[in-house]
Amino acid sequence: MDPSASGLTQRLAEASQSHLLQFWGELSTEEQLSLTRDLQEMDFEEINGFFRNAMKTSNSSKQEKMDARMEPVPREVLGSVTRDRESLKDWELTGLHCIAQSKVAVLLLAGGQGTRLGVSYPKGMYDVGLPSHKTLFQIQAERILKLQQLAEQKHKIKCCIPWYIMTSGRTMESTKDFFSQHNYFGLDKNDIIFFQQGMLPAMDYNGKIILEDKGKLSMAPDGNGGLYRALGNQGIMDDMERRGIQFIHVYCVDNILVKVADPAFVGFCVQKGADCGAKVVEKTNPTEAVGVVCKVDGRYQVVEYSEITLPTAEKRSADGRLMFNAGNVANHFFSFSFLRDVVQKYEPELQHHVAQKKIPYVDTQGQLIKPDKPNGIKMEKFVFDIFQFAKTFVVYEVLREDEFSPLKNADSQDGKDTPTTARHALMSLHHRWVLNAGGHFIDENGRRVPAIPSLKDGTDLPIKCEISPLVSYGGEGLEELVKGREFHPALMIDELGVHELVKNGV
Ligand code: UD1
Repeated sequence: MDPSASGLTQRLAEASQSHLLQFWGELSTEEQLSLTRDLQEMDFEEINGFFRNAMKTSNSSKQEKMDARMEPVPREVLGSVTRDRESLKDWELTGLHCIAQSKVAVLLLAGGQGTRLGVSYPKGMYDVGLPSHKTLFQIQAERILKLQQLAEQKHKIKCCIPWYIMTSGRTMESTKDFFSQHNYFGLDKNDIIFFQQGMLPAMDYNGKIILEDKGKLSMAPDGNGGLYRALGNQGIMDDMERRGIQFIHVYCVDNILVKVADPAFVGFCVQKGADCGAKVVEKTNPTEAVGVVCKVDGRYQVVEYSEITLPTAEKRSADGRLMFNAGNVANHFFSFSFLRDVVQKYEPELQHHVAQKKIPYVDTQGQLIKPDKPNGIKMEKFVFDIFQFAKTFVVYEVLREDEFSPLKNADSQDGKDTPTTARHALMSLHHRWVLNAGGHFIDENGRRVPAIPSLKDGTDLPIKCEISPLVSYGGEGLEELVKGREFHPALMIDELGVHELVKNGV
């Protein structure tokens, strides 16, 4: 095998990336083959262009200037589950009607690498230790199934919510295998559509692609905004069109409370005639790792937690709340026609964001080095960067305790966004559902447990209670199972009935 014969040597030289072949002579035939394959797939001109643009837009003075151009979301585009309580039922009915007509699809962003959680498999396969040991994928699948049933019952018509799942080169096979092993969690296999986002190489500050091994490039998924390119080049928009999809709910894999295809959110966006919408929770802590939905230069945008400056994050309004408090929970609504425009017209306009990283590399001697300070960049597009193109943009505010508890980090003492916090958030929500439906919990002494759990040993332990999404999507339909009854925790309600678990292995 000769890289010069195939023109590869020349292409690399033209792109100033010849160093990628520096260990060629030391590689096995297999390694040479695999490196050649990777390099042949790459458009170096494009990658070098991405690098130049990304570096240009990422300098900090620009970022500071951006802070000065930020404004909070105006009241008139905001809907709220608390302030607009009287409209909620109506929004929900509209959303459910759209679902019944099979016009709504869900799209899961699951191409991330879960670096912070530190697992080698896709995050959706994570078991946070609920009594049922359901994974995030299973909880989401069952919510889709239940919602289909609710829409069918209400409108007496068969419907389907197709589930598009974006994976990356790293997560595709294991994700697909997992779904197949679990028989697609009861959903129709034909209505779960996997597709793959692109990858980009990590580069050093001089624009040289980094080798993570003598014959291997350091590659990472191109960010969740890689969605738009993937939708186009994998035929997903065509699939949606064929199915008559008009509205799409896009969400991230890691939120254990996610209301997949939330009918109220969909109905709100549809009633407002929005082409694009974002769900938010109130951000109360300036340093919380959530982006904020706001306007920059009059256009809607999310300013990411890694990109906002502390003084801006800390700004408060007259009422004492954070000025930029529309915390992005990574749940977005798009109309099909808007998404198609983005894919066909706007995608190339999206800029990559730059993350400075410590990227392991082989030095010129072929030694693997693990740097202790950032030595290069990863480039990512972000899913919300298309908000700026929306003609009618709306924001929908929900309660954190009902809808947002992301799994980001491994368990640690006082850890944030961990398996423990996710598990507790889900169980405490389900506890409240039981109370709202007229059920009660009693402790080992036969006393009613107060609705707000007490602090035990300094740890706020929720009642152990889990309700299968197959029984209830959002707290509905529980009265006949729990009203007027008293339960000992742990309580589990699933499609087989109501069980008090003797052994509390949570
Ligand atoms: C994300 C949001 C942030 C929001 C927070 C809420 C983005 C860019 N940021 O931040 O504004 O407040 O969630 O929890 O959306 N993913 C891919 N491909 C990739 C990279 C990520 O599909 O190349 C997926 C992940 O699998 C995950 C989601 O995107 O489902 C979010 O990724 P993550 O990197 O965890 O986002 P955060 O930084 O937490």
